[in-house]
This record gives sequence, C-alpha cells and structure tokens, in this order.
Amino acid sequence: MAGKIPEETIQQIKQSLDITEVISDYVQLKKQGRNFFGLCPFHGENSPSFSVAPDKQIYHCFGCGAGGNVFSFLMEIENISFQEAVGKLAERTGIAVSIPNAGDQRSDPLLKEHSQLLEAHELLAKFYHHLLMNTTEGQEALDYLEKRGFSKESLESFQIGWALPNWDFTAKFLQKRGFTAEQMEQAGLIIRKEEDGSYFDRFRGRIMFPLHDDKGKVVAFSGRSLHEEKPKYLNSPETPIFNKSRLLYNLHRARADIRKQHSAILFEGFADVIAAAGAGVENGIATMGTSLTDAHIQQIRRMTDQVIICFDGDSAGIQAAFRAAGLLHDSGCDIKVALIPDKMDPDDYIKQYGADKFRNNVISTAMTLIAFKMEYYKLGKNLQDEGQKLQYIEEVVTEISKLKKAVERDYYLRQLAERFSLSLDALKQQEKQLFFEARKKQTPNERTFQPVTVLQTPKKLYPAFQTAERRLIAHMLKDVDIVYKVRELLNGEVFNLDEHQAIFTYLLGFYEGGNVPDSSTFISFLPNANLRRLVSDIEMMMVSEVINDEEVNDYIKEIFNYRKVLEIKEKKQRQMIAEKEKNYEAAAQLAMEIVRLKKELKK
Ligand code: CTP
Ligand code: MN
Repeated sequence: MAGKIPEETIQQIKQSLDITEVISDYVQLKKQGRNFFGLCPFHGENSPSFSVAPDKQIYHCFGCGAGGNVFSFLMEIENISFQEAVGKLAERTGIAVSIPNAGDQRSDPLLKEHSQLLEAHELLAKFYHHLLMNTTEGQEALDYLEKRGFSKESLESFQIGWALPNWDFTAKFLQKRGFTAEQMEQAGLIIRKEEDGSYFDRFRGRIMFPLHDDKGKVVAFSGRSLHEEKPKYLNSPETPIFNKSRLLYNLHRARADIRKQHSAILFEGFADVIAAAGAGVENGIATMGTSLTDAHIQQIRRMTDQVIICFDGDSAGIQAAFRAAGLLHDSGCDIKVALIPDKMDPDDYIKQYGADKFRNNVISTAMTLIAFKMEYYKLGKNLQDEGQKLQYIEEVVTEISKLKKAVERDYYLRQLAERFSLSLDALKQQEKQLFFEARKKQTPNERTFQPVTVLQTPKKLYPAFQTAERRLIAHMLKDVDIVYKVRELLNGEVFNLDEHQAIFTYLLGFYEGGNVPDSSTFISFLPNANLRRLVSDIEMMMVSEVINDEEVNDYIKEIFNYRKVLEIKEKKQRQMIAEKEKNYEAAAQLAMEIVRLKKELKK
C-alpha cells in the first residue's frame, strides 16, 4: 500500500504531525477525557460519536464505523489515494517527498472525468484573473471593482476575473488545451445551440467569481454583469462537480478562522463575504443565492455551533434571516443576528462606514435570536394600532415562552413590559398559559425529547467469542509477546471471524518486519478500509494496560468454545434427522458426542 514512498519518510511525516490538529481542519473537536469528540464528517449526525485518540494517533466513529490513522482520514475525507494523502501531509510538515506517478492513481473513469472538469476550471480561473488584472480588455471591469471598494488584495485572494465579451473565447481557449466540446459543455462553460449544434460561451463580458468547493478547488463560476444586463449574476449550471445546494462560498478559506473564533458568519451574497474579508472579518461564508439546505447546515455544524447571520437590512433580507435562523437553531446552533441599518447590505455598509464600524457596531453587537425576533415581528405592523400591538405582544410572548432559561424569560418579559407599559405579572401569566398550550399540542414523544448534548460512545454487545477475539487483538496491538503467545495457544487453529484472522496475520507480518507496537503505523499496512476501521474500532476499546496468562487462556478458551457450540448445533441437527429416519444407532452415537462436547465446554 505504501507504494514507492520510502517507509522512513512516511514514518517521519507521521511523527511530525498530530492527528488531532489535522482532523481539526475538518471537524470541530472537544476534549473529553483522554480523547476528542466531534460530529462525524463521514455521516450526518447531531450528536458527536466521532472520536480521536491523540495517544494512539487514530480516529474512530462509533456511529458509522469509519476509522483509521491520519493518512486514511485524509484519503477518505478528500477522496484521494494514499500517495496523495502522504503528499498533502508532507507539505504540511515541510518534509520533501516525491510522489511516484501520482497521475496513475486517477485510473477510475469517474475520477478522471472529474479531474478534467476541475482542470478546465482551474485553467480558466487563472486566465480570467489575468485578463482582469493585467490587460486593457479588463480595465473597465477593474475600474468598476476598484470603485466598488475591492482592493487588489481581495481581487487576488478571491481570484476574481474577467471574461471577454466574445462568443467563443472560452471555447477556443480550452480547445487549444485539449478539452473536447463535450467536456466543456458538461462543465457548463459552453452552451450548445439547438439549431445547428454549434457552441457558444456561457460567460461573456462578465466579472468572474470562481466558486471553490470545500477543498479549495474551483468547481464553478458566478459571472456578474458590468452594465446592468440581466441577470445580474449568472451561475454555472449543476455539473458533476458543482452542486449549488451544497456549496458554501469561501468555506475553504474561512474554515480555519471559523474554528479559531468558534463562530461562522453567514452572509446573503458572496460580494458581502469578500467585502467582510477585506474588513478583516475572515470567518464569512454564503450560499449561492439559494436558501439554506440541510447539506449547508451539516457542513456548518461540523465546524462550529455558533453562527452570526448577517443578511441584507431590507425586508427580504430580514425574512430570509428569520428562516435561516430557525433552521440553524433547530440543528442545535447558537444564533446571533447582525442587523444592517437603513436597508443596506453588508458590502454597502462597509463601503460607507468602514471596516472598524462594521466590526464594532455590526458584528460585535449582533443580537440574540430572541432580540432579533422582537424586531422581526414589528415588520409590517403599526404598533400605534391597538389590535396590531396586541398581536405583536402575543407573538413575542410566544417566542419568550420557548426560551429554556428562566432568567432569560424574565429579562425579555421585563423589557416588553417596560416598552409597552404593561404589568409584568400579567405578561408572566400569559407566558405560562402559552407555554402549556404549546405543550398540549405536542405529541408525548416531542415532549420528552431532549436534544442529546452528552457525548456518548455506545457500547455494542458482542457474543463472548467475538469480545474475546477483540480483546486479544487489542492486547496484541500493544505487545509483541502476546502475538506469539496467542499463536502458540491457537496451535494452528484460526480466529472465528475472518477479519480478526486477517488482522492477526497482518500483525504477525508487521512485527516480523521489525516494527514495534504502534497501531497507527500498523493501520497503514492494512490493505483495505474495512480492516483499518476494525482496528481503529478495537483500539478505541478500553482494555487494561497489561494482560496476564490466565486472561489470555480464558480468551483462547472462548474462541475454542465457540467452535464447540457450532459443532454441538450441527450434531443436534444431524441427530434429529437420524431419528426421523429411524436410524437409532447413529442418533445414539451423535447423542454421546454431544454430551462429550458439552462436558468439554464446561471445563
Ligand atoms: N444572486 C443570483 N442571481 C441574481 C441575483 C443574485 O444568483 N440574479 C445570488 C448571488 O449569489 C448573490 C446573492 O444572490 O451573491 C445575493 O444577491 P444580491 O443581494 O442581489 O447581491 P449583492 O451581493 O448585493 O450583489 P451586488 O452588490 O454586486 O449588487
Ligand atoms: Mn451589494
């Protein structure tokens, strides 16, 4: 599996890395005991069952079974080969490696197709960027962007570009580099004319914003018109590499900051993300003009549980913020809402008032969700009108009644009482009434449902022989001597589970090759993900540091006993058949054998 990269280099890379740090780039981890826990990046979940053991340098998910070492983590999460994972981690540590024929890894036709689409996007993004920054054709667009307040740094860092207003510029550019019309059409970069089958460029005379996926690869573009042509923004269509309802703009750049600051800022438009980054607010992300999907929320939840929503200050923006806040809150996020005054959007605000005011008066003073709702319900109401005022109070009290903390409920009820000169007692009474009414409407299930916040590692129940085999493997991973002892005691017999036997065989080879116990290194020796998962799973079991001979003997006995249990079962069946066939002699013989086996079991 290690290919042609020298074993020492792989070891060197592994030793200069901490798995917790690498995984932290993808998963928000919290320490609990010796291990770290987080939401598994390999399957959707709301309570963390993904754990990382820094002492063993391995990870394991108790939910979906994913597991392995730092290399297999990168292979699985980035969908890359072992060589590529080594290459990436080498880069991180600054250790020089040459990756032998990494290109050959892409022999999978689907991966090959994707890599070509990605290559086309990367080439084009570079070229569009060059046209904007360095050519007379791009000058007008550059002037416009600079007038809008985009700094050269921002243009570079977001790789903003310019597509010429020609009909076939992109097509010709890519054709020269060996891409076929079909490939370009599949990438959404050119469009086929129905009438004559000829092609033309999708993006013409537009400011080009490359859209990167979570790994930082350009997967699509959004082109903004320069002279108010419609549509204002033209996006790439859905392609094999671009899924609009998944992509979060700027995720690859913002991820580290989101982790560091323990919060993400969700904007409505990607121009706002760029403007905010220019103002020193680097943890911003945005959807591509669509409303928030489950896929978006899941990606956010993996990084953080605190989100500041900073949408446009107009009524459409406030409506959208209300929706997004509800969805994120339901997923377990702590929400704040940063309101932009005077119907501006964040980008306008930064241009008009500057970076400091944006940071200090907008982001830092973001309101709690309930405070935002108290503003939200005012929309479209005339609070001088008695009826509308009462409706407003009821809506707000309903929201307050949903708050979990009594102090908070008290605080906001007081605020409401003061604002409308009402009796606090009356409001409290109404709040209780609304609370119980809402409760009555809930099904009993909803009522008892409490979001699971406690980190849990469910204990699976295995048959005795399986537990015995797992424990032996756990000890063999720690101690070379145990392997030889087990081999001797098995005396040519094998583990009952094929996977366990496979691990045992690989482990023998591993130690015979002169390696010392190190499960994370051992994992790299295993040929498939199943075995790697199983080893990480076994490694996560708590076993005592040392094991004595008696224990080893007991486990081996369990292994042999299981064989006997199976044998007894089989003999019982044969005995029944013999009796049916009135072959009493054979039946008696079988009965005796069963008794003998049962006796042996009890020994
Ligand atoms: N959008 C879109 N198509 C449009 C208009 C908007 O896909 N015709 C999406 C874009 O992703 C955009 C987001 O909706 O980022 C927000 O739209 P809007 O508020 O109009 O964009 P702004 O960021 O204000 O753009 P600008 O400042 O360039 O006008
Ligand atoms: Mn704008």
